[in-house]
Amino acid sequence: MSLLLDCDTGIDDALALIYLCSQPHVELVAVTSTPGNVDADQVARNNLALLELCGRPDVPVAVGARAPLRVPLVTTPDTHGPQGIGYAELPQARRTLEPSDAVDLWIEAARSRPGELTALLTAPLTNFALALRAEPRLPELLKGVVIMGGAFFYQGNTTPTAEWNTHVDPHAAAEVFAAFAGQPEDRLPIVCALETTERIEMHPEHLAALAEAAGCNEPELVRPGDAGGLRSRARNGLVRHVSDMLRFYFEFHRLYDQGYVAHVHDYFAATVAAGTTRFATRTATVHVETEAPRLVGTTVADFRGLWGEAPNARIVSENEPAAAFAEFVSSVGALARRLG
Ligand code: RIB
Ligand code: CA
Repeated sequence: MSLLLDCDTGIDDALALIYLCSQPHVELVAVTSTPGNVDADQVARNNLALLELCGRPDVPVAVGARAPLRVPLVTTPDTHGPQGIGYAELPQARRTLEPSDAVDLWIEAARSRPGELTALLTAPLTNFALALRAEPRLPELLKGVVIMGGAFFYQGNTTPTAEWNTHVDPHAAAEVFAAFAGQPEDRLPIVCALETTERIEMHPEHLAALAEAAGCNEPELVRPGDAGGLRSRARNGLVRHVSDMLRFYFEFHRLYDQGYVAHVHDYFAATVAAGTTRFATRTATVHVETEAPRLVGTTVADFRGLWGEAPNARIVSENEPAAAFAEFVSSVGALARRLG
């Protein structure tokens, strides 16, 4: 399957990208960079460096918007680190960005391969909204769309009711869902929202299992009692960088009383897009609040047609965390072993 990824690389975006590089059946057509966790240029640097780390310097990387559609950009260095990849220090990529704008790249790809490309969006929806403005036929031209974003009847992670991606650019999210209203059910975006992505909760044991699957001789121990900011000593480069990213993410989640764990939202969305995980969905009409000051970015789902408006989303309602981590360990472990 052929996939376009738009991300705001960040730690869980990085895991999504690494995972996609581990999947031989996935053709990664392009990776585009939206500002969110960090600014767009840092996102792009992270994408270039991660693709090189994973042996995929052939995959084009581009930047589009450098700010949300209407509100000022707010980044979150305390969540993902000042460079967006936790404690990891990735070698700078030798190649540079594509000259084309991300939005033009998306439209060109979708027009040249109608019905073939799946869009995976793990960032604020700024670039995707701009692409839909420029090419309103995108919902018909794309084979499918998977979005990580929103929270439905579940507390937000950015405000009491709003999730990060829809909060950073609420107007873009509102435009994206509006663009899909009335599409046939099998063309509606699959939405991975917090109520199911927070079930994909990585623990240090998963990291230890990854190192073992990668053939590391030493156990990869990341422990709650460690001094903050320790660095991995794994000789395997991919294991070392993933460990340094996740240690930062574990420390962040503990800081916010969620335990020494990491909710790897975007990795789950990548498995949905790649077709390598089991999940169920419920069709709904999604509203994104853009006006009420305390509620900006909040997503609400009408599952029962009470608003009398056409459905515009299929919201993931069930997933399988244990299977998701078994898939991560085996696939990324095999990639790490190959890369050495
Ligand atoms: O709320 C989680 C989402 O916001 C994830 O995509 C994470 O990377 C951050 O961008
Ligand atoms: Ca993200």
